[in-house]
Amino acid sequence: MRGRFITFEGIDGSGKSTQLTATASALRASGIDVLETREPGGTALGESLRTILLGRTMSPLTETLLMFAARVEHVDEVIVPALGTGHWVLCDRFTDASYAYQSGGRGIPAEWIANLETWAHPTLQPDLTVVIDLDPKQAAMRRARVRTPDRFEAEDVAFFERVREVYAARARAEPNRILLIDGARPSAEILERIVERVKPWRA
Ligand code: ADP
Ligand code: TYD
Repeated sequence: MRGRFITFEGIDGSGKSTQLTATASALRASGIDVLETREPGGTALGESLRTILLGRTMSPLTETLLMFAARVEHVDEVIVPALGTGHWVLCDRFTDASYAYQSGGRGIPAEWIANLETWAHPTLQPDLTVVIDLDPKQAAMRRARVRTPDRFEAEDVAFFERVREVYAARARAEPNRILLIDGARPSAEILERIVERVKPWRA
């Protein structure tokens, strides 16, 4: 029995990691085996690449290729095997983030991302992608309260406006896969929407 693949997206500080953790707890409480993971990362090599990606200056194309290098390892070594043993895989970011950040944010052509996607995971797609939508100024205020900015989080509001718009456009284009939720709502209410959405799969 194949598990479900659920990804969590949104601009930095939107609250997606909070929702991933809460969703994992809710699913485990109903007896489901859950694997929590993240991108870039999720494997030893992927975590090394994450350190480089979040810390070092590089060209947008290098950034894109390293994101996908980490993703190939993650898909092959972690995600596909876990789904095969019936685990539900909850992943903090996946390829939608490359469209949003590398294409929307950095200006890499979307067709290049689409090509890399075909190479990295030709058949795998998330069963559900939760996009937490939030105004970049509000997200920046949330981030400022809890952490020092990494290389992405140091970007300006205009960058995050572009990232946000790509997420919104993708949600409009794929309404069956992507659930767009207002991140300004209370956490408990957002969790309820997610749990409602996956309920039919739990039977
Ligand atoms: P992300 O993973 O999107 O960067 P986090 O889940 O780490 O965001 O949340 C960033 C901050 O915002 C944390 O301090 C978190 O407690 C807070 N937060 C998360 N969701 C909400 C919400 N719905 N309302 C208010 N604050 C929130
Ligand atoms: P994230 O885990 O959300 O950071 P944090 O733990 O600080 O909330 O993601 C790390 C950063 O990587 C984030 O700023 C977005 C970026 N990213 C991309 O630009 N493209 C991608 O394909 C992925 C997966 C992440």
